[in-house]
Amino acid sequence: MNAATQAMLEKARRFLPNGTLGNISDEILLSRGRGSRVWDSDDREYIDYLLGSGPMLLGHAHPEVLQAVREQLEEGLTFFALNEKAILLAEQIVDAVPCAEKVRFTSSGTEATLYALRVARAATGREKILKFEGGYHGMHDYSLMSLRPPRASDYPKPIPDSRGIPRGVEQSVLVAPFNDLDLAASLIEDHRADLAAVIVEPLQRILPPAPGFLEGLREVTSAHDVALIFDEIVTGFRLALGGAQAYYGVVPDITTLGKVIGGGFPLAAVAGSARYMAEFDASLSDSALVQIGTLSGNPVAAAAGLAAIRVLKRSGTYERLHEISKAIGSALKSAASDLGIAAHVVGEGPAFDLVFADEPPKNYAEVLASDSQLAARFAKGLRSHGVLKDSKFYVSTAHTESDVEATAIAASKALTDITR
Ligand SMILES: Cc1ncc(COP(=O)(O)O)c(C=O)c1O
Repeated sequence: MNAATQAMLEKARRFLPNGTLGNISDEILLSRGRGSRVWDSDDREYIDYLLGSGPMLLGHAHPEVLQAVREQLEEGLTFFALNEKAILLAEQIVDAVPCAEKVRFTSSGTEATLYALRVARAATGREKILKFEGGYHGMHDYSLMSLRPPRASDYPKPIPDSRGIPRGVEQSVLVAPFNDLDLAASLIEDHRADLAAVIVEPLQRILPPAPGFLEGLREVTSAHDVALIFDEIVTGFRLALGGAQAYYGVVPDITTLGKVIGGGFPLAAVAGSARYMAEFDASLSDSALVQIGTLSGNPVAAAAGLAAIRVLKRSGTYERLHEISKAIGSALKSAASDLGIAAHVVGEGPAFDLVFADEPPKNYAEVLASDSQLAARFAKGLRSHGVLKDSKFYVSTAHTESDVEATAIAASKALTDITR
């Protein structure tokens, strides 16, 4: 590590709690990115599967996104008022995402899921929500319930993930294990008089939905007029242009989007059917939801998102993205099997991980039972061999065959180091 990097990390420790932004804790200072690669402040190059935690679906510094941003910068950075780029982005979202009839922009995914839950409560007049153990919906009080519990929850009682959350929040959140339709359905039926919404990541972190799980949730929520919310902040525009709801063919009432739609800038959204989105409409009711954000629909972020979507819409994009993702997954799996290590590639298309377990996990409890220490050592080993990942592999349209080959070599070396 060079002296300038060391000095900067010392400064980080002085001015930032834990010397970090709260995201990745390990010491790494990234200074630039291009395509599928990033460089740290020592000018070490990495194949990047972190991708800014997902937004960089086109890779870093995509020329068409940069051009759109440059043009918008000349016109103005933010207006608070209605602006053309935000309207055009809303149009693209409504065109692409099956459940979206209207869109309300926010700056972060955390805000988007908070408002999605509020909309559901307002529309149904009920207060409780059901979420799934291990499901990530940002950092607000309702989402930090059984996100990363140290043990399986005593369903449906949630385990708060953080100090500082009022006790009352626990009473309005129910928790169920992902992929157990019978248990979720019976909780929905038992609590139907108080239940406003079921919120789910259709691909929970890396766990694909079991056949019939999302369809079953759709059926039972519709039967009891409970709002079904798909949190598509990861999967939106990543699994397919229409997100997981298009990919799996199950349409929720409300969805949350983030990451890709801001093209690398802070932007997220709540979108949904006209019935639910009417809750935001002050022209329809004196008691419409209050929701304001200084940077909501920021034109620079919207211009970047629009440019990203324009590129993603080109024919063959998603086919290539899924193909290259599959090749990377197979390379990781082979590296493990060649060394006799029990591991499985778990995920969907361009969002997956190598899980060290005898069987692929189907829910949070099974993820908890996998070898997380080996996974952490593998991620660290990959980094020392020039591959950057955090809790999963995010793949971009900029990754190439040569990235696949280099990843395979790095994975073999990292796993060899571990097993030595
Ligand atoms: C599924 C999901 N929901 C919500 C969020 C929160 O988004 P943000 O970090 O923009 O607040 C994330 C962030 O990773 C996410 O993956």
